[in-house]
Amino acid sequence: MKSAAEIFNNIVNERRSIRIYDDKAPFDGEAVARSLDRALLAPNSSNLQLWEFYRVKTKAKKDELAKYCLGQNAAKTANELIVFVTRKDKWKEHAEFVLNESKKDFPATLGKRHKLVVDYYTKVIPTLYFSDPVDITGGLKKIVSAFGGAFQPVPRQVTATDMRIVVHKSVALAAQTFMLSMQAEGYDTCPMEGFDSARVKKFLNLPRGAEICMIVSVGKAKPEGVYGKRVRIPREEVIFEV
Ligand SMILES: Cc1cc2nc3c(=O)[nH]c(=O)nc-3n(C[C@H](O)[C@H](O)[C@H](O)COP(=O)(O)O)c2cc1C
Repeated sequence: MKSAAEIFNNIVNERRSIRIYDDKAPFDGEAVARSLDRALLAPNSSNLQLWEFYRVKTKAKKDELAKYCLGQNAAKTANELIVFVTRKDKWKEHAEFVLNESKKDFPATLGKRHKLVVDYYTKVIPTLYFSDPVDITGGLKKIVSAFGGAFQPVPRQVTATDMRIVVHKSVALAAQTFMLSMQAEGYDTCPMEGFDSARVKKFLNLPRGAEICMIVSVGKAKPEGVYGKRVRIPREEVIFEV
């Protein structure tokens, strides 16, 4: 029997970005549903889960979205397209939800750790996520952080743009969890950032605060759907021991 590490090693090694899928191969949409449930378990910043996942399944909708993916082959032949969306704008309601859920585990008298959790979601998160339309707040936070940082380690990523990056990182981890899960289910994927984000947002009827992190196509690969051998920078050039 294979160890968990051997199975995981196969999943990681066999995942390739697929540009042509086999539209004749059987496809189980339940594998997508299961994989999205696993994506929900991805690690994410402050556990705010500022993400949404949109499944695009019908031929008409897929064809339209493939156009907004700049007509890429990886989108045109897929069984489904999954849009991974960031929802930084939902920080307040998610913080409230996570704190209220966490409180259900708190004892009647708050311990030190519980007070820290309450402070984190009611003070730190609003300080980090609150911003005004031109992000004057972000500029002020940056100045405070630079002064404080002269004397001790402090968070430096405090502007509205910094926080957008924070949210995109978490959503990308959900997308990766999804892709590895689809591989484990016996299917193939391709992550895409080549798309017209304004048109995709309109297509999904998303509000201003939402952004498209990635679109992942799924299906069963055709052999010619793998474009060439896998190329990686030698490990000595990118892995360091400090
Ligand atoms: C954030 C991101 C965006 C990508 N965008 C595209 C894309 O728009 N179109 C495409 O064909 N591949 C895209 N790729 C796939 C990469 O080209 C691919 O991962 C890389 O060449 C390594 O190949 P592999 O995934 O087969 O190991 C993207 C990958 C990532 C992580």
